[in-house]
Amino acid sequence: MKVLVTGGAGFIGSHVADELLAAGHQVVVLDNLHTGKKTNLPAGATFHQADLRDQPRLAEIFAAEQPDAISHQAALASVRDSMSDPATYAQVNVVGTLHLLELARAYGVKKIVFASTGGATYGEGYSEDGSKLPFTEESRAQPKDNYGANKLSCEFHLDLYRQNYGLEYVALRYPNVYGPRQDSKGEAGVVAIFAGAMLHNLPTKITGDGRQIRDFCYVNDIARANRLALESDASGIINVGTGVPTDINRVHAVLSIATGYTQAPVHVARPAGEVLATYLDSTKARQVLGWQAEVTLEDGMARTVAWLRGSTRL
Ligand SMILES: NC(=O)c1ccc[n+]([C@@H]2O[C@H](COP(=O)([O-])OP(=O)(O)OC[C@H]3O[C@@H](n4cnc5c(N)ncnc54)[C@H](O)[C@@H]3O)[C@@H](O)[C@H]2O)c1
Repeated sequence: MKVLVTGGAGFIGSHVADELLAAGHQVVVLDNLHTGKKTNLPAGATFHQADLRDQPRLAEIFAAEQPDAISHQAALASVRDSMSDPATYAQVNVVGTLHLLELARAYGVKKIVFASTGGATYGEGYSEDGSKLPFTEESRAQPKDNYGANKLSCEFHLDLYRQNYGLEYVALRYPNVYGPRQDSKGEAGVVAIFAGAMLHNLPTKITGDGRQIRDFCYVNDIARANRLALESDASGIINVGTGVPTDINRVHAVLSIATGYTQAPVHVARPAGEVLATYLDSTKARQVLGWQAEVTLEDGMARTVAWLRGSTRL
């Protein structure tokens, strides 16, 4: 099928584009290159430089390309910036998504797969008795920032378009995704930040005691989940995490081995509001998509370091 991949010049979107092309689909990328790079684009994809806020330009692209499906990866994705500039975040993340939904309806698009977030929609998972974790799709959504609220709004809009117009959707709630092409300036990119610093033998900083728990999933696993969601009859919200709780100290230790780094991390104050613990139960993904994460932390981090060393296109 012909798939419009928004954000396809970005970190995750470019891997989704690779995965879809390898499976024989046609790929059209739409990206404004805000954080995306032309060098991330696969050779086989058609590229349109366009902004999600520019509805007339999006309409031109839909008229020209007539996609069968949409993989919507484009977004502004910094939790911190979403608090200092909430209106821009809502314009890109929510209004931009509504532009796509309206055009999907007008052009008879059959399915949209949306890049949502587990980390930012479920909020704090820490509790004295550990009863909140891992988060399932039934766990209460309690975003702690505008970015998480944007993603949750989009999920509601997607559901409304399915009910009213029959547009099928899957909202994949991602954990912390890492791998080649992740920008070390990104907030979610602790792996890229540590690995980049370690390869230059620079100091590394850990906030608090480093026992914060996250769910780190390798980007190729996430790209495969996106392809399966597009190709299957699955519908609704689906978590796609490893289900393995990993603390930041372990990430530091595994990357130190992969890079040959010997310095101890510098511990700095935890920023206010930083979530202590989150990881995802992906039983539903296994049942409805036949998906589970396959790449181990050690393997994924070794592949990421190899890419950073050589920067060859993986
Ligand atoms: N990286 C993670 O751990 C993670 C976790 C949860 C959810 N997500 C979601 O996954 C998606 C991809 O994230 P990523 O980590 O690859 O980030 P990224 O910044 O590399 O990719 C986002 C892409 O969207 C494009 N974009 C931004 N604003 C745009 C606009 N107005 N119009 C058109 N294109 C625009 C950027 O240029 C970029 O190529 C995002 O929707 C993000 O919210 C990522």
